[in-house]
Amino acid sequence: MILPLLTEGGGGGWLMVNLKYRPRRLRRTENLRRMVRETYVTKDDLLYPLFVTEEAESSEIASMPGVSRLTLDDLCRKVETVAELGIPAIMLFGIPTHKDEWGSGGYSDDGIVARAIRAVRKTVGSAVTICPDVCLCEYTSHGHCGIIEGAEVDNDSTLALLQQTAVCYATAGADIIAPSDMMDGRVAAIRSDLDMYGFSHIPIMAYSAKYASGFYGPFREAVDSTPQFGDRRSYQMDPPNRREALREIALDIEEGADIVMIKPGLAYLDILRDAREFCDLPLAVYNVSGEYSMVKAAAHNGWIDEQRVVTEILTGFKRAGADIILTYHALDYARWLSQAS
Ligand code: PBG
Repeated sequence: MILPLLTEGGGGGWLMVNLKYRPRRLRRTENLRRMVRETYVTKDDLLYPLFVTEEAESSEIASMPGVSRLTLDDLCRKVETVAELGIPAIMLFGIPTHKDEWGSGGYSDDGIVARAIRAVRKTVGSAVTICPDVCLCEYTSHGHCGIIEGAEVDNDSTLALLQQTAVCYATAGADIIAPSDMMDGRVAAIRSDLDMYGFSHIPIMAYSAKYASGFYGPFREAVDSTPQFGDRRSYQMDPPNRREALREIALDIEEGADIVMIKPGLAYLDILRDAREFCDLPLAVYNVSGEYSMVKAAAHNGWIDEQRVVTEILTGFKRAGADIILTYHALDYARWLSQAS
């Protein structure tokens, strides 16, 4: 190949290059691209988060088009669709009608999530893996993820309630326990109680590196869990920190985590890649509510092609090292895959 050559001072000339390797050769047709494609996101990679409400009617979440707070009946219908589409797992978040200082709706046997676990199990059997989120913030009147002592969220008294919540969900039939509270020592505490009550076979998926993020905004609207005072920065991680994420992951592994999670996803892909290189446990990433809402809003305005952008985002997570992708796009993505095959 002959290339034009510009030299300093304005002179020119020609340069002969023998391009032995031309990357474009393998991009020429779709079949060639398929043959050398390195990363695929399949249905097996998806975990679909769902909201279950104690209200009498399901209601749409304004900032998350396509996502609703579901009654038990509607939840069961939705999970049937999840099973039909071949998505392996769901996460459950509860929205109680009554909240109190101790978040008791989270760990009582007739609390909304315990009931939802039993109802879903009855509807789809073991076709869908049930993975409840364990945290107090959806159930506390003040909206924090733990017990308030003075002006602070008290770590150690919160642990006992998280343990109760985990055992309550395991008793109801949960397959995986996923603590998202960011209290220190919660994985060890939950592991020890699960083992003590006969649930040594139930894995823990720890939200290990969970950052104090503005991207949770729509979720907090959905479950009405915006803290009544202060914010979550005294327990969730400071966004600029990278090494600290690896310390959190190391701690959770030591305490008995079976799967570790990075959350949010898009602004933290470097952390995901670091985690992939740092540990050999299965790695999850949470494509959170704000990330979903941005895509939906832009797609709604016709500014982006939703299917293309969602596929690119999910592929980015997988390429960065994720084994499990928690995403509100799961149903749409699984449908697109079915249409393509
Ligand atoms: C509960 C919890 C939150 C999310 C998952 N579990 C909210 C928070 O920490 O404020 C956020 C999920 C999302 O934004 O999609 N602690």
